[in-house]
Amino acid sequence: MGLRWRGYHRVHRQVCKRLKRRLHELGCRDLAAYREYLQRDPEEWLRLDGFCRITISRFWRNHAVFELLGTDILPKLAERLRQHGENTLRCWSAGCACGEEAYSLRLLWEMETGQFYPEIALKVTATDTDPGMLQRAQEGLYPGSSLRELPWDWRAKAFVPEGRLYRLQRPFRDNVTLLEQDIRQTVPQGRFQLILCRNQAFTYFDQNGQTTTACRLAASLEPGGVLVLGSHEHLPETVGLHQDSRSPWLYVRS
Ligand SMILES: C[S@@+](CC[C@H](N)C(=O)[O-])C[C@H]1O[C@@H](n2cnc3c(N)ncnc32)[C@H](O)[C@@H]1O
Repeated sequence: MGLRWRGYHRVHRQVCKRLKRRLHELGCRDLAAYREYLQRDPEEWLRLDGFCRITISRFWRNHAVFELLGTDILPKLAERLRQHGENTLRCWSAGCACGEEAYSLRLLWEMETGQFYPEIALKVTATDTDPGMLQRAQEGLYPGSSLRELPWDWRAKAFVPEGRLYRLQRPFRDNVTLLEQDIRQTVPQGRFQLILCRNQAFTYFDQNGQTTTACRLAASLEPGGVLVLGSHEHLPETVGLHQDSRSPWLYVRS
């Protein structure tokens, strides 16, 4: 399946539980019986792929990442655009879950960095393979637990309570394009100044899948563009990107 079990060490119970439920539904006694079922019904591979998908996310996840983006990375990227007379900072959130990461970037830009670059718009392309997650991203409605890392004053300004949930307000949801895409097969068109690919390919994909994804991400970056991985992740090979001295999970395209 192109995945590596080691990547699942924190969430393997969740995946095993889903799998057990499926075996029960199908009346398969054990994994050997399930393997036979997979041979008889190739469609089942898609379901199995879905069971192996981990979708945990939250706003401002690993806040040090967003702090570095706000104080250093976004201003530098924006300065470069200004020098070239360009007015769009293009970002890609790869494996965006319910949009928490993409909208965190929009919040950061609207609340903080963007005020110094009024001529520049920060636009985010957010991709995920799971249509259910994208639907929720479209709705912009989140439980309080998704907001727990977000600065309190931003939370109060950007979200309106609706029952037990919180709805992200319109200006922060603007300039985000949601696309259903599997990163193993396709990438969004064009090149980006900033790509976030966190807690997905470089945790759950096998070596081959990681290398292919790394090449795709490198090809989707503008020269001088920045790739951000999850805080415990690293690229399997350098693929034309060099690790940045500011942080081990940061790579820059030469
Ligand atoms: C663990 S979440 C991480 C979300 C976010 N990047 C973060 O760090 O908070 C991983 C997301 O990647 C998506 N995903 C898994 N496999 C994918 C694939 N092959 N292509 C695109 N998205 C994928 C999942 O549906 C899930 O929403």
